Parts: sequence; structure tokens; C-alpha cells
Amino acid sequence: MATEQILTIRRPDDWHVHLRDGAILAGVTPYTARQFARAIVMPNLSPPVTTVDAARAYRDRVLTAVPKGIDFTPLMTCYLTDSTDPEDVARGFDEGVFTASKLYPAHATTGSAHGVTDIANIVPVLERMAEIGMPLLVHGEVTDHDIDIFDREAVFIERTLAPLVARLPELKVVFEHITTRQAVEFVESAGDRVGATITPQHLHINRNAMLVGGIRPHAYCLPVAKREEHRLALRKAATSGSPKYFLGTDSAPHAVSAKESACGCAGIFNAPFALESYATVFDEESALDRLEAFASENGPNFYGLPLNRGTVTLERCDVEVPATVDANGTPIVPFHGGTKIGWKLRA
Ligand code: DOR
Ligand code: ZN
Repeated sequence: MATEQILTIRRPDDWHVHLRDGAILAGVTPYTARQFARAIVMPNLSPPVTTVDAARAYRDRVLTAVPKGIDFTPLMTCYLTDSTDPEDVARGFDEGVFTASKLYPAHATTGSAHGVTDIANIVPVLERMAEIGMPLLVHGEVTDHDIDIFDREAVFIERTLAPLVARLPELKVVFEHITTRQAVEFVESAGDRVGATITPQHLHINRNAMLVGGIRPHAYCLPVAKREEHRLALRKAATSGSPKYFLGTDSAPHAVSAKESACGCAGIFNAPFALESYATVFDEESALDRLEAFASENGPNFYGLPLNRGTVTLERCDVEVPATVDANGTPIVPFHGGTKIGWKLRA
């Protein structure tokens, strides 16, 4: 481990977050806004954000939830469906409303019922996006019932992602929240138009965290955490210094009651201590000097956006993560809840 006690880095961004809507939006947005200058906001609301007008209106609601005096820019995404019109997507990008489009394979995860049933249905949209330089954000899991849930990402690479990248090499693709060695190998082998986000939870936990000693719903998210060898491959990738990997928390808040249920929702709410969580991993890997690139440089460089001005400072000290946090009236269990974490973000 390194011996630094204080780490100051350029202000980071979160390239993948769920802020929800209504009361929860107001409860969770401040956690993201206090750490990150910008965030890619997921469109899997009910109903999903599929139009330019809906994204504009949602962006306004997000901005209303940002505490006064904090400078935070939500970057909106277009939820792709089988019937998305390429020209609407291009217009939203041109007007600065959509930063990227999100591909959810139908029924892959929370809020994906309106997602894409066959990638062939959106080829004209993807071609248009490639033309205008608009990134495609991919939830990379197949949904076939005969594929084991732990294999869904690896099979998606073979059946969908590799053919897509081969067919449209100019398209910028972010392979979101990667969870496997196979995903790392794919990203490494692809050209510089393919990048990936990595969440804190997939760097910290393997599937034992969900299942050993009792079933632990707060460690359940999608894609589900895999075996230890995969976690180690992700830690190596994230801390490697490669410009292809960047910070995307996939913070996905659900009420305690929706998680602790006979059919609990997928999603880990990591926003309250996200940067601290990543810092702990980079520290354990003796790679604190690479945190800034991962958190604050690789993402904007990939998206073609300016780097943030300003800095944030982390200090090494024990911080108790509360067992639950109140999100404007909704109790939610945060990632690392009820334990200590070794870094603290200065106010
Ligand atoms: O665990 C997850 N939760 N994975 C997703 O892809 C969606 C997210 C959510 O919206 O709750
Ligand atoms: Zn997500």
C-alpha cells in the first residue's frame, strides 16, 4: 500500500448513474452532485426516457434536485427501443439534450421491458449514431432463458457485441459495468472506440458476498457479481492506467423494502461513498496515482468532452458508512453500509 495520507485529483465524473424520479430523485441526487461534476443519467424510468422532450423535462427535474451552490451537469441518455427513430436521436444529440443512447436488451434488468428485442431492429439508429459520433452505452447481457445468469455477459460478447463492433467500427461503444475477464479481454482487443465503465461493487465483491452465510440482497445487482478471478481481472484493468476504462458507479437505489423481498430488485446504491470506495481499491492495488485518470480523465476523453476544472481531496481515515441512509423519506442501504471505509472525501 502507498503511504499518501491525502490525495487531490481533478474533479471526477460518474459515467453511469440511476437518479430515479420523484421523491427519491431529490433524495439521491445530492450524493452524486457533491462528488461528481457531471454524470451520465440512465433513462430507465417508468415510462423510459425515449424522446428529446422527455429527456429535456427529466434534465430539468434533476437540476431541481441539485443542492444550491453545487455545480453539477446531468448528461442525458436516450433509451433505445425497437421503434426508435434515427432522426429523433440525431436531433436530440445535435440540440445538446442527449449525450449518448442506452441499449438495454429487453428484459435484461430493472426497467428494461421496453428495451431492444433484437439488435437488427436498431441498425439504422446505430449507423446514424456512428455518423454523428454519438456513443452507444451497452448493458451487455443476453436474456435467453437457456443461458446461465453468470454467463450472460460472456455470451453477449460473442453473440452481439463482437459482431456489432466488427460491423460498425466507427461507432463509439461503452461496454457498461463490466463484470468478467472475458469483457476485459474483449475491450483490450477492440480498437480505441470501445471503452468500458467499472463499478465499485464489481471491484470489491465477488458472488460469495451475495450467497455465503445467508442471502444478501444488498449485494445483488445486474450484471451479477461473478467469481473471484473476474473481480481480479477487473481490478487489474481499472488500475492499469489504460485510457479505455473509466468510472461509472451504476449507483441504483431501491428502497430497503424492495431489496429485502422474496423477489428483490437488482441494484446497489453506492453513490454516498462512491469515490471513497474506488480510492480504497486503488490504494489496495498501490495505484492511487492512477485514480485521477480513471475517475476524471479517461471518461471525458472518450466522450470528447472537456476535462473538469477544480479538484476534490480525499484523505486517508476511517469512516463509518451508515447502515441505512434516508433518501427524502425512503430508507436505502448504501454499499459498504454498516462497515468502515478507509478514505474520506473532504467537504
Ligand atoms: O443492478 C442494476 N440495477 N442493474 C441495472 O442494469 C439496472 C439497475 C436499476 O435501474 O436498478
Ligand atoms: Zn445501470
